[in-house]
Amino acid sequence: MQQTRIMEILKVAELAAIAASEWNGRGDKVAADQAATTAMRNAFNDIEFSGRIVIGEGERDEAPMLFIGEELGKGGEEIDIAVDPLEGTNLCAYNRANSLTTIAIAPRGALLYAPDTYMWKIAAATDCGGRLHIDNTPEENVRAIADELGKPIEDVNVLVLKRGRHDKLIEAIRSTGARVSLIDDGDVYGAIATAIPHTGIDLYMGSGGSPEGVLACTGLKAIGGFFMGKLDFTLDRDGEAKRARAEKMAEIDLDAPLTMDILVRSDDAAFIACGVTDGDMVHGVRKGNGTIATESVIMSASDKTTRFVRTIRRA
Ligand code: FBP
Repeated sequence: MQQTRIMEILKVAELAAIAASEWNGRGDKVAADQAATTAMRNAFNDIEFSGRIVIGEGERDEAPMLFIGEELGKGGEEIDIAVDPLEGTNLCAYNRANSLTTIAIAPRGALLYAPDTYMWKIAAATDCGGRLHIDNTPEENVRAIADELGKPIEDVNVLVLKRGRHDKLIEAIRSTGARVSLIDDGDVYGAIATAIPHTGIDLYMGSGGSPEGVLACTGLKAIGGFFMGKLDFTLDRDGEAKRARAEKMAEIDLDAPLTMDILVRSDDAAFIACGVTDGDMVHGVRKGNGTIATESVIMSASDKTTRFVRTIRRA
């Protein structure tokens, strides 16, 4: 993916973060999400490319903007786009850490159109020589990362979403001696954080949204990290209907482990996230002295780099 294209997409993520940040701490997650979505769509439409939403705000009849299949841009190179315009809507509404705007881009046809259900996920900066696997026990995965990082198991830090369905997982991780860091929301951040040394996170495990899984996988694949997922329709209230629909499309084996190459079928993808609220990976939007400052992370496959970009705009 060309650097100029990545810079254009960076601007989209930044403008969405600025719009969403107006709602930081105002207790209205719907308005915050709407602000990010509108700003993101407007900014995409300013780009000379033929963008197509593969993962977005929902199906055409559910979402007025950034719906799946929506075509964006002024025409040009064909790019597929996955977005979560505001990842961690509650984090933004209650001014908690790590709310982000997130975008993944890849050549046309490369991003899996994942059913919007739950996915069990495991993510790390490395696959530990093939020893990490979604079907392993949590204990096996924690030991693998400790060995790979050359750390005593007591120093391994595993991030998990705080949910009742994760109680057994948390118990199993702690039984190894490893630490568990719990987050209220935001598992795109959770998975990506494993590849960002200053977050102190070694491993991410647990279930969350499958669209968020594709986004996080794109970032980790771009830089040579590790991600694996497995769909779980049983956690979803509408799981049976969603499964029946997904079976008709039959793009993938719905019960099989989803490797990085299934989720992102290209080595030329990029992931961009911009901070809305202050977080462990990037600062949120800061305003003052007639300026607006944003901080973003870019993971790019073209040169296998993670870059942090601080942008200051005149307000
Ligand atoms: P929103 O940004 O849509 O509020 O999602 C936040 C989130 O925590 C995701 O990061 C995660 O994948 C999903 O919700 C988990 O779903 P649930 O809250 O149903 O466990």
